[in-house]
Amino acid sequence: LAMATVPARVPDMGKRELLNLLLLGAISLPTAGLLGPYALFFVPPSSGGGGSGLIAKDAVGNDIVAADWLKTHPPGDRTLSQGLKGDPTYLVIENDGTLATYGINAVCTHLGCVVPWNPAENRFICPCHGSQYNNQGKVVRGPAPLSLALAHVDLDDGKVLLSPWTETDFRTGENPWWS
Ligand code: FES
Repeated sequence: LAMATVPARVPDMGKRELLNLLLLGAISLPTAGLLGPYALFFVPPSSGGGGSGLIAKDAVGNDIVAADWLKTHPPGDRTLSQGLKGDPTYLVIENDGTLATYGINAVCTHLGCVVPWNPAENRFICPCHGSQYNNQGKVVRGPAPLSLALAHVDLDDGKVLLSPWTETDFRTGENPWWS
């Protein structure tokens, strides 16, 4: 049955080839030498380095232009965009009407539900098991163990550019758990 579909076969074949490689290696190489070729399979070639930003997309997939966004989103607003790795990411409008320099990843740190913004409560409240996060995404009530992840927000030719947040989490003073 597994052979009926292509998607099921491809990873299968990959594993088999890897296994063959390892078996061949075992004949001619010392055991320690196996770690090299094995590890190479799992390290993406382009990991690390700069320039890993992405233009945030709106609900229909268009690039978000900051000036347009600010016209339609009032101070205090938190609205979802499509962010890094496709993760839903809130763009934050500060109370002075400017776009915040951070975005908030909406994926709940408990079990991964997308957490809605609740303006009346000034919090993000997860519908799945009731976790709550303050208006910057810092966890204030479990069961979620961690605050929502952050992303940098910059402008690139007027468009909203998201990039990985690897520095200290300004809400907790700790290293980011997500990077
Ligand atoms: Fe959000 Fe469980 S997934 S509280």
